[in-house]
Amino acid sequence: MTAPPSRAPVIETRGLVVRFNGRPVLEGIDLQVRQGEALFLMGPSGCGKTTLLKCIAALLQPDEGQVLFDGRPLEGVAGGPVTDAMRRATGLVFQGSALLSSISLAENVALPLRARLRLPPELVREVVRMKLAQVGLLHAIDLRPAELSGGMRKRAGIARALALDPRVLLLDEPTSGLDPMTADGIDRLVAQLRQDLGVTVVVVSHDLASAERLADRLVILGHGQALVEGTWAEVQASKDEAVRSFLDRRARPATAAAHAAWEGP
Ligand SMILES: Nc1ncnc2c1ncn2[C@@H]1O[C@H](COP(=O)(O)OP(=O)(O)OP(=O)(O)O)[C@@H](O)[C@H]1O
Ligand SMILES: [Mg+2]
Repeated sequence: MTAPPSRAPVIETRGLVVRFNGRPVLEGIDLQVRQGEALFLMGPSGCGKTTLLKCIAALLQPDEGQVLFDGRPLEGVAGGPVTDAMRRATGLVFQGSALLSSISLAENVALPLRARLRLPPELVREVVRMKLAQVGLLHAIDLRPAELSGGMRKRAGIARALALDPRVLLLDEPTSGLDPMTADGIDRLVAQLRQDLGVTVVVVSHDLASAERLADRLVILGHGQALVEGTWAEVQASKDEAVRSFLDRRARPATAAAHAAWEGP
């Protein structure tokens, strides 16, 4: 499912630098997210994956460099027309899902709809039902986050990110903390959403099994840089020491049943 290389980037970063308390975390990241592709951003814990995703989602302003959306630079985190357009076009699933614990699943998914659109309550309920059905959680519509399993919480975060029909779905560690079978289910869901909605997907992950299945392209980050970029096969051929030590970890143990059940595109 490799995206044609001629596709224009929907999101681009140029020379992105982020420092925290003077300490550089990202030191000049040039990245292109092409329309329709599944791009994985990978690397060891603390290498700046979430930081990069926050810059892409216009939640964090870089110290240097630019984020461009449809070829136009964002005006800053505080928002101008391009930043607002980008915010509407992207749906972010936070690491840990970030659901509000005191309200039901339906109310969590309704939050972006209520914040952005003026819809009658019955229409909000209808959209919420559709989004929850899309992630296989309609039966849990009135449960609260504490009553959901880890995998269900990840799905709920995806449903909320889909609420406003984003062009780009940004997923921060969608399979972390899940058992292999549940992680396989999330991988299948992401593949299904791409097929059904044609959504562009940026996945931050350290899950090599997911990347092998889903990624059209991977970028491996380390030392504040993009160490290598390419298809799964291209990245596997890298001889960079930091890339090798990331790739040569023990992959997520896959069960025979999980592989048999996998019917990815
Ligand atoms: N708001 C912040 N203030 C200060 N330091 C921060 C902030 N956000 C992130 N950092 C630091 O920046 C570095 C990169 O953090 P980031 O969360 O982007 O890593 P990550 O690659 O997503 O890690 P993980 O795989 O564990 O989620 C870390 O050293 C982190 O402590
Ligand atoms: Mg992170």
